[in-house]
Amino acid sequence: MQRTETNQDLKPLVSILNNHADREPKCKAQYETQRKSQYGAKYEAKHEAHCEAKYETDHEAQYETQTRQTCPVCGRKNLVRTAQICGKLMHFRIMCECEEKEQAAEEELQKQHQKAKRIAEIKSLSLLGKRYENAAFENSEIGMNPSFDTALNHCKKYCENFKQMLEKGQGIYIYGGFGVGKTHLTACIANELMKNFVPVLFTNLFEISKAVKSTFGKASFGKASTSVSSETEQSLIEKFSKINLLIFDDLGKEIFVKNESDTWLQNLLFDLINRRYNELKSTIFSSNYSLKELVEKRGLDEAAADRIAEMTKNFVFKISGKSRR
Ligand SMILES: Nc1ncnc2c1ncn2[C@@H]1O[C@H](COP(=O)(O)OP(=O)(O)O)[C@@H](O)[C@H]1O
Ligand SMILES: [Mg+2]
Ligand SMILES: [Zn+2]
Repeated sequence: MQRTETNQDLKPLVSILNNHADREPKCKAQYETQRKSQYGAKYEAKHEAHCEAKYETDHEAQYETQTRQTCPVCGRKNLVRTAQICGKLMHFRIMCECEEKEQAAEEELQKQHQKAKRIAEIKSLSLLGKRYENAAFENSEIGMNPSFDTALNHCKKYCENFKQMLEKGQGIYIYGGFGVGKTHLTACIANELMKNFVPVLFTNLFEISKAVKSTFGKASFGKASTSVSSETEQSLIEKFSKINLLIFDDLGKEIFVKNESDTWLQNLLFDLINRRYNELKSTIFSSNYSLKELVEKRGLDEAAADRIAEMTKNFVFKISGKSRR
């Protein structure tokens, strides 16, 4: 049984992947709908500038209203504004300053809540294991292992400049012995970016290959369907290559023996990496081996190693030292 740092048991990778694929637009639409139902007329009122609103008079409320007649704080009377919006006569209650403040505070709270919810969702889709969910640059121990500190400083910079990194498809390659903090460091990157709403997928080749294998024999025959079972190998690989930031934990754990059965894994890895390379997507690798060792000791294809080297150029870090386990 393969040990894995990812949180794979929680959700199957295939469904996670679909979530990654269509979350962005869905989120925004949902948010708008929710705001509309929440604020109702207030929301419309805020957007009245979009319609050619023709104001009539500000006048005291004369029709039945459930709102208070005077503000208990400033004592202002309940004013109503009537406007013709898109041909429809609409009434808006005019808020006094205290109410406006109250609403602004409520909106701010709502915004914070939405942000927290979005980050929680991004985190739940990251598949980062529980052990690493609180890993952060700020709470990493430093000053004991210079090679770790150097890598950490560069990874921090990488996060600070993530937009530019992503534009170039810049990745990172971290290698070194067991327990030196490789996974910890990639988790710090993931957590830092997710805090800033960047979706991240933390996984490994074993899990990816399992997900791809689960699609075998399930060609969709051209039927339009979004169900997981109709996923084909190609569509799944395609989705993996669209994710902006993919973290490959422990590359080289699996041996790439060059026989019949393992050609598949070798080809899968190359296909994935090559697509991500072509699409300028950022990929972060951690490994117990240098790239050279991956080729010489683990049987990785030179072509795949070359691609990885290209993708992680100037961001290859070796962490030496004792295991922390
Ligand atoms: N600089 C650090 N500060 C605090 N905890 C760390 C640090 N580096 C590693 N750890 C912890 O030590 C353990 C081993 O690190 P890990 O990153 O899993 O090693 P590996 O290099 O094998 O991936 C983990 O529990 C990790 O959270
Ligand atoms: Mg590790
Ligand atoms: Zn008031």
